[in-house]
Amino acid sequence: MGYEIIAVVGARPNYMKVAPVWREFEQIDHASMRLVHTGQHYDTNMSKVFFDDLKLPKPEVFLGVGSGSHSEQTSRVMLEFEKVLNKKRPDLVIVVGDVNSTMAATLVAAKMEVPVAHVEAGLRSFDRSMPEEINRMVTDILADLLFTTEPSARENLIREGIDEKKIHFVGNVMIDSLNFYRPMADSSRILDMLAIEPGRYGLVTLHRPSNVDDTETLKAVLGALVELGGACPLIFPAHPRTRKMIENNKIQVPAKKLRILDPIGYLDFAKLMMHSRLVLTDSGGIQEETTVLGIPCLTIRDNTERPITIEVGTNRLVGASAAHIVSEGHNALKEPLGQGKTPELWDGRAAKRIVRVIDEYFNERTQS
Ligand code: UD1
Repeated sequence: MGYEIIAVVGARPNYMKVAPVWREFEQIDHASMRLVHTGQHYDTNMSKVFFDDLKLPKPEVFLGVGSGSHSEQTSRVMLEFEKVLNKKRPDLVIVVGDVNSTMAATLVAAKMEVPVAHVEAGLRSFDRSMPEEINRMVTDILADLLFTTEPSARENLIREGIDEKKIHFVGNVMIDSLNFYRPMADSSRILDMLAIEPGRYGLVTLHRPSNVDDTETLKAVLGALVELGGACPLIFPAHPRTRKMIENNKIQVPAKKLRILDPIGYLDFAKLMMHSRLVLTDSGGIQEETTVLGIPCLTIRDNTERPITIEVGTNRLVGASAAHIVSEGHNALKEPLGQGKTPELWDGRAAKRIVRVIDEYFNERTQS
């Protein structure tokens, strides 16, 4: 029962989700995996640094689609990925997360009748103004194997009419990576390089279009962060989307309160997160990582597709209102650390479960 897989990555949050799955498949002889990078993210510090940190092999194919409108980006991935599948058809395509590359690759594979496995299926923010929500819904309706991270995902999929047999609760590959790379992150010198001390700074990430694309919203959020930064200095590795908005609008922030850096790699970021007093973010994955690390997380959004991080974890939704960010930030700084619990199956073994399910899937197909 030999089978061939293509795993697709495109953007920064994809790499650490694919890495554990890649490692598991490396250990079995009857399956081979090729890595395709769409090129949605292309800067060294949005892509190559992660391949180095995670020790992922160089992708076999690089589609080089780059930036563009949603339709441009999606269609370019489709055109290029179709050529890859035409050249050598795999038995399965694995996609992860909810970026444009995830949905585009899924559409191509489904139309060519190549089975698709979606890692991190079923998450829903119920907010279709979020591009990722559309990507999640389209990917899930087309996928043949749906790997979920938390109970809400199964409920969402069943409600949307997905066949229960396709859904597999396996845990969280992002946490597989966090556990696996933690000793390496420990050795990072980033705190010394930034001359900061453990527990005496907060960490910020911000890149959602809803927070950064509108100048007034961005100014209000940054203003709130500067105010909070007066109580606890904040370190802010800025996404290129956000950096461009800050520069184009000539927004000035005092670096002593809100220190803007270029994007940083996986290990350095993990180290910064592990020792921060507080995290403020609009990322999806960071809500999960802080939950496991027991670091208070304030999510600068009105909703989350990851409700488990609020139910059992350290996460709290604060929206984009400046007053709310400041008051919740001050509250969080007063609280003791480490009050969250680790959600079920976030135990570092999600990729092992995924491989087991995929193996069974091909076993059954061989027999029938
Ligand atoms: C994408 C994902 C988002 C994910 C985020 C993580 C979609 C719809 N969005 O958002 O879900 O949370 O990645 O980072 O897929 N840019 C660069 N260099 C790069 C990449 C991007 O300068 O290497 C700039 C470009 O100006 C580009 C902009 O960032 O236009 C946005 O990039 P894009 O990939 O379209 O979306 P993200 O905001 O990164």
